[in-house]
Amino acid sequence: MRIVKSIPQLRKLVAAQRTKGRSIGFVPTMGALHEGHLSLIRLAQRKSKYVVVSIFVNPAQFGPKEDLAKYPRDLKRDAALCRSAGADLVFAPRARDVYPDNYHTYVTVGQLSEGLCGASRPGHFKGVATVVAKLFNMVQPDVAVFGQKDAQQAAVIRQLARDLDFPVRIVVGPIVRERDGLAMSSRNAYLTPAERAQAPALHHALNLAKWLVRSGRRESGMVKREMMRMIAREAPLGEVDYVGIVNNRTLEPITKVTSDTLVALAVKFPSARLIDNVVIR
Ligand code: PAF
Repeated sequence: MRIVKSIPQLRKLVAAQRTKGRSIGFVPTMGALHEGHLSLIRLAQRKSKYVVVSIFVNPAQFGPKEDLAKYPRDLKRDAALCRSAGADLVFAPRARDVYPDNYHTYVTVGQLSEGLCGASRPGHFKGVATVVAKLFNMVQPDVAVFGQKDAQQAAVIRQLARDLDFPVRIVVGPIVRERDGLAMSSRNAYLTPAERAQAPALHHALNLAKWLVRSGRRESGMVKREMMRMIAREAPLGEVDYVGIVNNRTLEPITKVTSDTLVALAVKFPSARLIDNVVIR
């Protein structure tokens, strides 16, 4: 497995694989890899012949009060994990190469970026869309794999790829959970033991939503209220940022849960903001 920092070198190595007729799979990450990322790398391997993983903590997607400075960075550890999961190349560009002096171009995806996480993290999806568009141009993958845990991000990327005519197939891999149901996330490492003990409340609230809908109670307002009550009870250290019940494709709020509904939530603990979701089909 190669580790590459320069964009021209990345292009050269990927082009050589293409000449051999190999399809290129791509898994963009910000490092701090966990089993969730590794499952995406394995998925990319099944969908393509040569797998590139990028590791880049993208400053453009962090708000001024967010955790950019303290975001965990350990390239050695991450590269070893990529190798163990079967990646062929790790691309870890420097921030000054991705955003050189006098950088001015940003990509905004509009409506899909505005609700849910977009409402509480203004500019976040603009940063994500920009870096992903740039990475797509650098790597030129045939297939790119994203995680369902960031459901809104996946929707934004699908729209971006379609609108800007990127010749890439977007594949979304399922959420990987800890044994107690907590969705894996690099930010789980920030949690104190007391917060970690309460964090499965997000998953429990989503299970409650599924159960309510299955028993015929489909009114979104009621489902939301029950979910919030459960979180208040099980995670008193957390503060609900949002519970969203939206159409899984358009991300528009819906008043009655139908098929293809995304139930998504974000809870702010003092040490980390966690997100999770479930699709009700
Ligand atoms: O999901 C992430 O880790 C990031 O948002 C991504 C897609 C790598 C863009 O920086």
